[in-house]
Amino acid sequence: MAALKRLDQTLSNLGYCSRREVRIWLRDKRIRVAGELTKNAALKVDPASVTVDDKPLEHPGDILIMLNKPLGYVCTHDSNEGQRIYDLLPEIWLGRSPQVVSVGRLDKDTTGLILITDQSALVQQLTSPKKHVDKVYRVTVEEPLQPVIIEQFAQGVQLSSEPQPCLPATLEIVAEHTAVVTLNEGKYHQVRRMFAACGNHVVTLHREQFGQYTLGDLAPGEWRDVI
Ligand code: URA
Repeated sequence: MAALKRLDQTLSNLGYCSRREVRIWLRDKRIRVAGELTKNAALKVDPASVTVDDKPLEHPGDILIMLNKPLGYVCTHDSNEGQRIYDLLPEIWLGRSPQVVSVGRLDKDTTGLILITDQSALVQQLTSPKKHVDKVYRVTVEEPLQPVIIEQFAQGVQLSSEPQPCLPATLEIVAEHTAVVTLNEGKYHQVRRMFAACGNHVVTLHREQFGQYTLGDLAPGEWRDVI
């Protein structure tokens, strides 16, 4: 079990309020520890034993969730860039420390599975090029798919302005304009650029799987815990 933290630090790290405000909330009798009122902001607590306004704390432990990202949402924290994936999550998470971040990114026009966590070590692990984590995309394209593209992907597509070709990728043609592509790297706009390099154009791009995690029947805009 992680080292216990002070009550004021616990609540501020979970995005509830500032450490100064905790003293006001304690005075207003809004906070209980193991069912008991306390006045001690420095009390070392197990977050699972704390309630605010008689409600348990929201995700008192680590966060790892999957979200089915809808079309048009961005994976940045910058609210000037439009609707953010973070706007689909509990608002209180925006105030958490460590910050809640996505594991890699999907383009604004891409839908599907994105993992979100507050554990930076996990982000490193799942996005490290050395770990070769598989990502599976369902892609629709403008031009009819020709069987030759299977071999082009398997050989490693050379993207413009990249020193090395992409790693070998698997492409399965499932309909005239639809393919399922499995990659284990994550270059910028990689799938769109791979199809462009093969003379086609991606119309829709949807991630179905990231490593061991699959979307299942999770609806667009919905999320669920994966730990
Ligand atoms: N490849 C892309 O081109 N875009 C994404 O969002 C993900 C993979």
